[in-house]
Amino acid sequence: MKAILVKVDASRSLYLADMPAPQPGPDAVLIKVHATAVNRADLLQRRGLYPPPPGESEVMGLEAAGVVVAKGANVNDWQIGARVMCLLGGGGYAEYVSVNHNMLLGIPEHLSFEQAAAIPEVFYTAFANLFLEGDLKAGESLLIHAGASGVGTAAIQLARQAGAKVFITAGSDDKIRRCLELGAEAGINYKTDDFAARMTELTQQQGVEVILDCVGGEYLHKNLSLLRLKGRHVLIGLLGGDKAEIDLALVLRKRLRLIGSVLRSRNLAEKINITGLFKEKILPLFANRQIHPVIDSVYPLAEAGKAHEHVAANKNFGKVVLRVAANES
Ligand SMILES: NC(=O)c1ccc[n+]([C@@H]2O[C@H](COP(=O)([O-])OP(=O)(O)OC[C@H]3O[C@@H](n4cnc5c(N)ncnc54)[C@H](OP(=O)(O)O)[C@@H]3O)[C@@H](O)[C@H]2O)c1
Repeated sequence: MKAILVKVDASRSLYLADMPAPQPGPDAVLIKVHATAVNRADLLQRRGLYPPPPGESEVMGLEAAGVVVAKGANVNDWQIGARVMCLLGGGGYAEYVSVNHNMLLGIPEHLSFEQAAAIPEVFYTAFANLFLEGDLKAGESLLIHAGASGVGTAAIQLARQAGAKVFITAGSDDKIRRCLELGAEAGINYKTDDFAARMTELTQQQGVEVILDCVGGEYLHKNLSLLRLKGRHVLIGLLGGDKAEIDLALVLRKRLRLIGSVLRSRNLAEKINITGLFKEKILPLFANRQIHPVIDSVYPLAEAGKAHEHVAANKNFGKVVLRVAANES
């Protein structure tokens, strides 16, 4: 099969290579991949900074949408030909990928493979961190940093569906405008405004109950100052750095909870558990068209390098998708 590999030299450039297709074990299915999508983590993995968990494919790609073409002896719940999408530990940037059958989600009828490929990683991340980790409830206020990211565009929609009031930060007025269209109450351009001062004004000094933060670094202190009593700070990324000074008195006095969370390194049982909850609580929202994947652009798999450049330059609003199978959407 064709797959995207990384040159093991200083360039770390991407190239389309031939490699053997994976063989599904007894509890797995083989998916013919029609589309996959780029995640921020892929940029790190490409540079050798985010290796796949043990046992996962060396090929990049944390999600896929396609068709079941073979299955292991223990798989009875999915038929050959089923249209499916799934979260992966790796291996999506390829024509075929093998995954445990309990990780599969049926693609809602009205969605194409390209739209479906834009769902698993960011919507699972938003779902798990807003609700399972952050315990976000109706009527609460939420601040999402990088609101225009793949994760941000998913989180805005899920939080709104849950009845929360959503504030976002982003690096351009155009991205903010588009976040407002998705349901955010207000947005702050962190390049031209101090987000903490502006949030204090916007919330009439009340702050928010939950912050979904992928920036880390110097944002931590401002985030803690914005949290209300018993607020939850959910850290999911380190785009701004992995070191920060922390005012523990603030944490103590406001009885805050600081939560760190990663999806990829969770074990299979944990991922299957999230998949079950996602199937029950979130998939119907797609089927009923209450939420939708947000796609910035689609590149052929062979142009994965160009897709990465686009993401690395922070140009995307929502997801950058890679089309794997030709002439099919
Ligand atoms: N923990 C988990 O399980 C998990 C899972 C998935 C993703 N993540 C994390 O979630 C974040 C978003 O992922 P994604 O794939 O959705 O990203 P993405 O679509 O590539 O978007 C990332 C956006 O973050 C903003 N940004 C970049 N550097 C920044 C900085 N130093 N300060 C503030 N904003 C910055 C940029 O938008 P602006 O133009 O607005 O600056 C950029 O477009 C990443 O940090 C990723 O690692 C975590």
